[in-house]
Amino acid sequence: MGKKIRSCIFISGRGTNLRSIIDHSKNKNFPINVALVISNNIKAKGLNYAKKNNIPFKFYNSSNQISFEKNCLLELKRKKIKFICLAGFMKMLSSNFIKKFKHKIVNIHPSLLPKFKGLNTHKRVLAKREKYTGCTVHFVTSKLDSGKIILQKKIVVKKNETEGSLKKRVLKQENQLYPKAIKLLFS
Ligand code: GRF
Repeated sequence: MGKKIRSCIFISGRGTNLRSIIDHSKNKNFPINVALVISNNIKAKGLNYAKKNNIPFKFYNSSNQISFEKNCLLELKRKKIKFICLAGFMKMLSSNFIKKFKHKIVNIHPSLLPKFKGLNTHKRVLAKREKYTGCTVHFVTSKLDSGKIILQKKIVVKKNETEGSLKKRVLKQENQLYPKAIKLLFS
């Protein structure tokens, strides 16, 4: 394996997907290394995992999108970042920002896209009595949850499923799917 691709993970909260990517990146055959973590939430739990792993992290307030993106771009440049993973990052990025990382920003979403874009996916899946659900890793465009699909994992919605049980089962799949999709992208 040649040089790893210097990558940044954007988060807003818990960070189980961040954790999984960081863990996988320790393997010498994994194509990326996590050189930076950015959060728009100072209290994001995921930041602790970055800290624990000695990964540089930054918090930028995103209430003003222009200054948020400006701060991010400066730091991404400083750290020579070439690839971005959004992992529970709860803010849309502008098309101007996305243009600067064309086909280099990916996201994970807890549904079988193009079904159930946006928030509260599990609740809506249950309300529609879907037989299947799952998760999707896709490229990021300026349209919500709409870029080209890289990889999906499908699971059966069980009888007596609750929003909580579904969330838990899908998240477990997400944590496996995200590193798998990254590997696939660079293989
Ligand atoms: C995941 O369900 C992800 O699909 C969605 O936000 C959640 C983030 O979870 N975009 P975590 O912070 O990675 O644990």
